[in-house]
Amino acid sequence: MQTVTNPILVTGCAGFIGFHLCQRLLNEGLAVVGIDNLNNYYDVSLKQDRLSILKKDKSFTFIKCSVENLELLESLFDRYSFNIVLHFAAQAGVRYSITHPHGYIQSNLVGFTNMLECCRKFNVSSLIYASSSSVYGQNKQLPFSITDRVDTPISLYAATKRANELLAYTYSHLYNLPTTGLRLFTVYGPWGRPDMAIFNFTNLILKKEPIEIYNNGYMKRDFTYIDDCIESVYRLVKKGPPRDIHPPYKIYNIGSHQPVQLLDCIDLIETHLGDKAIKRFLPLQPGDVPETFADIDDLTMDIHYKPRVSIDEGIKRFIKWFKDYYQIK
Ligand SMILES: NC(=O)c1ccc[n+]([C@@H]2O[C@H](COP(=O)([O-])OP(=O)(O)OC[C@H]3O[C@@H](n4cnc5c(N)ncnc54)[C@H](O)[C@@H]3O)[C@@H](O)[C@H]2O)c1
Repeated sequence: MQTVTNPILVTGCAGFIGFHLCQRLLNEGLAVVGIDNLNNYYDVSLKQDRLSILKKDKSFTFIKCSVENLELLESLFDRYSFNIVLHFAAQAGVRYSITHPHGYIQSNLVGFTNMLECCRKFNVSSLIYASSSSVYGQNKQLPFSITDRVDTPISLYAATKRANELLAYTYSHLYNLPTTGLRLFTVYGPWGRPDMAIFNFTNLILKKEPIEIYNNGYMKRDFTYIDDCIESVYRLVKKGPPRDIHPPYKIYNIGSHQPVQLLDCIDLIETHLGDKAIKRFLPLQPGDVPETFADIDDLTMDIHYKPRVSIDEGIKRFIKWFKDYYQIK
């Protein structure tokens, strides 16, 4: 296990996954510097509320910063001498990338390159970054394996995430920078992202507004409960970077290996809400893939952990949080 003395840098700390990750690291007694630009892609008060929880811990330092701002980033790397960088800041969302491509280029490509350059220049010993299951595009062979070809992304978002993996490979090769990319599969849970299906459907059902179901409901997702995602990331941090291979470059799928039909997921939301959805069936949307399914053999072998939270339990916990947070009786 690697020893950690300097603070860990978490980018996107006010976001859904970054927030939970910071909480976990702080609970483990580690010092964390979190950065985020608090953009308004979704309700900023949700980001502020996550941040207020983190700020209660004396071992947490927040700096408002865009990952495009290389000068500020370099001054932070210089001041804190980070050994471990967990890069989760990005412009997320498949559908939004169809209409807003430039934001993805800035945050996900310019920002990612800045992160690589800082890690190289300041001799960071481990960069772990968020990729996405969307890199698998319309691959037909299931489950999706890290050894599959992934050169046909069908959204700009997916293309930027795949580009991140390729850029990371180059830095691992050229500069021996240890990098670990995480292909995350539809992470959900308390403090989740309002643009994602489970959050959005819950919100609309409670408001008695129709929910839009794409591909006429023929969608399957390998939903990953947030605690399982965070446990996996934390174990990878503890395990240390891939040093015994050249280049020191790894990719993992982080999923639950349990794909669920979207309509079954909606049934569970209805059951736990005690309310019925008004359903509008629509065709498959550009950029969307009909099915995701993660092969997690590599991950489970390396971290000795398998996701544990079932979709039923996960949705139950999410709805409890949603009702508490929005004070719904
Ligand atoms: N949630 C999922 O299911 C999922 C799936 C695949 C990949 N991912 C990836 O995981 C990471 C975290 O996703 P999330 O669901 O927590 O999303 P999120 O939008 O809640 O979190 C991202 C955070 O990054 C910040 N950010 C965005 N652009 C920035 C920039 N240029 N500079 C500084 N901060 C910036 C945002 O303000 C936000 O707080 C992202 O890289 C995302 O692409 C998430």
